[in-house]
Amino acid sequence: MQNLSVNACLAPACSMHKKHVVTVEGLGNTKNMHPAQEILANAHGSQCGFCTPGIVMSLYTELRNNPRPTKHDIEDAFDGNLCRCTGYRPILDGAKKFSVCGNDCNTCEEKDTCEHVDIEDFGKKNAGGFGVKYPDELLTFHSNASGPKSFIFENKRHKWVHPSTKSELVALKLTKNTFPDAKIINGNTEVGIEVRFKNQYYPIYISTADVAELKTMSVLDNGVEWGSLTTIANLQKQLKELIKKLPAHQTRGFEALYDNIKYFAGRQVRNVSALAGNICTASPISDLNPVLVALGAILTVESQNGGQRKLPIREFFLGYRKIALQKTEVLVSVFVPFTTELQFASAFKQAKRRDDDIAIVNGGFLVSLKEQDGSYIVEDSCFAYGGMGPFALQAKKTSAYLKGKVWSEGEVKTACKLLLEDMPLSGTSPGGQIEYRKTLSQSFLYKFYLRVADQLPSLSIAENVKSALQEIHRDISSGSQVYQESKEAGAVGKAVVHLSATKQVTGEAIYVDDIPKFHNELYAIVVGSAIAHGRILSVDPSEALKLPGVYYISHQDVPKSDHHGDPNMIGSVFHDEELFATDTVHCIGQMIGLVLANTEAEARAAAKLVKVEYEKFPAIITTEEAIEKKSFFPIERQIITGEFKGEETDRPLASATHHVEGVARMSAQEHFYLETQASLVVPGREDDEMEVYAGTQNPTETQHLVAHVLGIPSNRVVCRVKRLGGGFGGKESKSVFLSCGLAIAARKLGRPVRCMLSREEDMAISGTRHAFMGDYKVGFTDEGKLVSLELDLYANAGYSYDLSIAVLERAMTHCDNSYRIPNMKLHGRLCKTNTPTNTAFRGFGGPQGMMIAEQYICHVAEYLGKTVEEFINFYKENEFTHFRMPLENVFLERAWKELEASSEFHKRKQSVEEFNRKNKFRKRGITIMPTKFGLAFTARFLNQAGALVHVYIDGSVRITHGGVEIGQGLHTKMVQIAAHELGVPIEKVFLSETRTDLVPNTSATAASVSSDINGMAVKNACEQILNRLKPIQEQHPEFTWEQVVKAAYMDRINLSANGFYKTPDLSYDWASNTGRMFSYFTYGACCAEVELDTLTGDHIVQRADVIMDIGRPINPAIDVGQIEGAFVQGMGWSTIEEPLYSPTTGFLLTRGPGLYKIPGFKDIPVVFNVTVMDGVRNTRAIHSSKAVGEPPLFLGAAVMFALREAIKAARAEQGIGGYFRLDSPATSERLRLSCVDEFVSASKTDLLPGEKPWGVPL
Ligand SMILES: Cc1cc2nc3c(=O)[nH]c(=O)nc-3n(C[C@H](O)[C@H](O)[C@H](O)COP(=O)(O)OP(=O)(O)OC[C@H]3O[C@@H](n4cnc5c(N)ncnc54)[C@H](O)[C@@H]3O)c2cc1C
Ligand code: FES
Repeated sequence: MQNLSVNACLAPACSMHKKHVVTVEGLGNTKNMHPAQEILANAHGSQCGFCTPGIVMSLYTELRNNPRPTKHDIEDAFDGNLCRCTGYRPILDGAKKFSVCGNDCNTCEEKDTCEHVDIEDFGKKNAGGFGVKYPDELLTFHSNASGPKSFIFENKRHKWVHPSTKSELVALKLTKNTFPDAKIINGNTEVGIEVRFKNQYYPIYISTADVAELKTMSVLDNGVEWGSLTTIANLQKQLKELIKKLPAHQTRGFEALYDNIKYFAGRQVRNVSALAGNICTASPISDLNPVLVALGAILTVESQNGGQRKLPIREFFLGYRKIALQKTEVLVSVFVPFTTELQFASAFKQAKRRDDDIAIVNGGFLVSLKEQDGSYIVEDSCFAYGGMGPFALQAKKTSAYLKGKVWSEGEVKTACKLLLEDMPLSGTSPGGQIEYRKTLSQSFLYKFYLRVADQLPSLSIAENVKSALQEIHRDISSGSQVYQESKEAGAVGKAVVHLSATKQVTGEAIYVDDIPKFHNELYAIVVGSAIAHGRILSVDPSEALKLPGVYYISHQDVPKSDHHGDPNMIGSVFHDEELFATDTVHCIGQMIGLVLANTEAEARAAAKLVKVEYEKFPAIITTEEAIEKKSFFPIERQIITGEFKGEETDRPLASATHHVEGVARMSAQEHFYLETQASLVVPGREDDEMEVYAGTQNPTETQHLVAHVLGIPSNRVVCRVKRLGGGFGGKESKSVFLSCGLAIAARKLGRPVRCMLSREEDMAISGTRHAFMGDYKVGFTDEGKLVSLELDLYANAGYSYDLSIAVLERAMTHCDNSYRIPNMKLHGRLCKTNTPTNTAFRGFGGPQGMMIAEQYICHVAEYLGKTVEEFINFYKENEFTHFRMPLENVFLERAWKELEASSEFHKRKQSVEEFNRKNKFRKRGITIMPTKFGLAFTARFLNQAGALVHVYIDGSVRITHGGVEIGQGLHTKMVQIAAHELGVPIEKVFLSETRTDLVPNTSATAASVSSDINGMAVKNACEQILNRLKPIQEQHPEFTWEQVVKAAYMDRINLSANGFYKTPDLSYDWASNTGRMFSYFTYGACCAEVELDTLTGDHIVQRADVIMDIGRPINPAIDVGQIEGAFVQGMGWSTIEEPLYSPTTGFLLTRGPGLYKIPGFKDIPVVFNVTVMDGVRNTRAIHSSKAVGEPPLFLGAAVMFALREAIKAARAEQGIGGYFRLDSPATSERLRLSCVDEFVSASKTDLLPGEKPWGVPL
């Protein structure tokens, strides 16, 4: 019996036949949790909880198969999982408690402090072990040899044929009674993608799941033959065994295969996908094919009539996804020869992210040498590449050149140039990254040369290149979290576990789409614009409407009432967006209509039948294009200070002895909340009432805009929010569209309507973090003292305003980061482009402003030949920012100094320099970077909050407030505050959900201030009740809480209170640059150290130390989780995450998790230390706390600046000094191309006039 984790969305129901499906709900429940669930909950491993069931199941499967895992096994167990909230550290820490260290527990010196949890002990205590019991009927079924084996399932649309022998499988592909056109299906990890995303329909599937004959492995005299249905996971295990068992020289090819499988997909995919599936898919970026091609694998294919034939894999691939397999043939086995004494093999893969990512370029290399006069002569070679053409290409000219040549650095470098002829890529080739891909192809071959040379006795390679032989080693991750829990009485300041954690780990937590289906409910699918800009000529839903139970809704269904302007016009700040497009479309995905049907599948099928005709207009996609075409929104922002004021605006400032000018550019970022946008709208039976269950950060705006589009007063609409599976700003305003559209449908049809966007729809429609560009000119002194900053700032806003003005404002107020610059001239503009409206994203323009600051700081430092640490222009106490905000309790220098000491920065910097001296192709970089983040909504009126507190006669307390639980632990903190104020245990306080009928007119849960303002409102309500209870408490000091409450009730005292809070003193006038913009600032710093492979651009974050001033946290464990999660998100933003669009069509090319990569478990810093600064008080927020959601995010960019240091070292090695531009994110492509060398120079590829690259950032 085997336990395998699989992706539910790729596992067809029929493939589960004779299998026992275990889901998170089957493991345990909140009353009786499985240890895998309990340990993750208690370790603070669940924030929004949307990823948590998958993570629990990966851990459970690992423990079922491997009850005594090592820490390494635990880290590997999660390679197919993602989490956007936690930063992974707490999940790993929790899960590692199951790991064994190898010591004997009885004698181990650390046994008293060891936190190890023995899963087998748990199993012994529980009848049936620690795993879910396999059902008896299935056990009997499997052991019953006479039980049915081959079978067919069928319904009206599909036939699922399930042979059990190879001969049946082969026969099925043949005669008129069988299915030559049927799709063979193993793991469905390719076919499933074709069906879900490429509109493929296969009426007949032949499942190979039970064809055991084709899952075998045979070791032969000259190699190993694998049954074609061997799964990648089994292949991986078998290769490992073979490498251990067989003579080393024979298994060099197997090692190469094994190396690439390490980074092949995630465990869930490897568990089911088969060798045949990978080979027959013939993907140009298959990880196995180039290696198998290089190794000269031989395929055996079989058909009923033709019998078996052998096909060398080198002749198997004919074109893009075209193979030399006849329709009636089945691939049955794959033979991989052993390598000989002087045959060497290697494989390489470079992807955007190390784990679970498809390759940008990969390669398999084989060279056969012979010894001659003390040299090694190339007899034969095969260099096969993926990602360089339509299929696994062999570099034939390169091989031909090398044949008969000495295996030497000179010859291989000459051969590298021929690679560019073997695999020419033009500037417009699909996939983009042209120069990078060309560079990688050369770097790989050069690395291969080094690897082979290192194994040849007479060829030695220099010590300083040895580190280039292997990939960068990643240790098991570890770290520390330093914080103080409050020792005072009461619930505040305690590291209470997120109150939904147990529900989240057991799958009991309810998100919008978990709400049981209402009677008569319809499902809606958005019909979005297929073009970026143009006029709608016609919309024809007639074919869709012919399907039973299908409806179509458009702008014609929006009531025409104009009590608040046009109801079809909505928007957060201005009503400048159409709910349903009427005439002109401004971006791909813009909503034209909704198709509704009884089920999602029916609605999807119908939506494909809606025909829309357009007249296309030219589209503007990038920031640069918008600047060139002067496509700006009319509202702009300016800040002018110091000597730039008045008539002398353009005069160079006398005290600035130097100036540098440059451009800082950063791309957008996809929110990638794990729960996509979702809403459910239920019409009431009377009085136009409407109930909206929305995944929104902004219930009030949802309520108001739903009322607006329906033309009814807001008092008829209730918006209810239980919890969100992540938001990060992406559900502040963009969630509202869906609810408004569904409300129109619900009103018209009188039925509940639900929709949850698919990941691809969500990414295409819902906007991103704003891409920014800053043209700067900085004046400074010889010592690096900053004197002036002139900055033209451009934000790519998309096609409407949304929240972009406020985002721009925050960027402008943060473009000083932590540095005082007395003279500033800032001009901010919003670029109007034909892309979805960009929106709020954690940090809200702040990180973009600070990124520009750090870029010009680097420029100044590199101009002066100094390091950034040498000239610190930190703000001091009582100084004013450029927007006239006084600075009180400035912790910048303290954060910096404490971090310098605790991270041993100076000592480590020396080690880094030493490392760099010793290693030519591996460079390390280390840097320290500060942050300062202003707290408050920049729109003054939003800085208010309400709360409602009820005390019931039994003493239990129910609270609610205006904030939304997005995973950030807000409700937990509010419960802590209420319990603290009332002096009751937190178990007495309950918070169910956020509702606009309980607390009205709330502000969005945003700007990091939700705890500050809602906490104050909760406190205020509690104080009102306490004041009313005071006389009884004074009269009866001996009374328990319950007795006091009971007595108050009997005395007819109101036990319910409505609390309110508004942040004091806020006022800012942009025109005069006066007033107070923020309530206070949060400060912090990060020291990051990285290691970079300068030949590939691959990198690892070796260590990050973060220190944050967050006052006295209400809940330090939750706040540490916020710091870690924000850091990892900021690291993703500045290193691997980059949405790319087609410059010609405006289509988002990086849709879905396959193409857009957020950091995974093995991207976090290997050593990750977080310190909450001690002894800090903040008089401007509740219980001296400070906001924490957004401020740490920018610190993730320290990784990018550490990488910049590593690049500097690489460039210095090549004799290149001075400033260079490094745009954000510092992807492996930008990193590699910045390490200029002969390979980069040879790869230069210019676009021809009129040509555009395949993909561009916004
Ligand atoms: C999340 C994810 C990550 C991935 N990551 C990677 C990665 O890192 N590297 C990589 O290389 N690929 C990756 N892939 C692609 C895919 O998983 C692999 O190509 C996989 O090996 C396909 O195997 P399968 O058994 O699932 O194929 P299936 O989807 O079952 O079949 C694929 C194709 O092969 C044909 N076929 C299968 N068996 C036979 C046979 N015996 N004879 C003839 N034709 C046959 C099928 O008819 C079908 O056309 C990824 C896919 C996903 C979904
Ligand atoms: S807790 Fe993992 S995605 Fe939210």
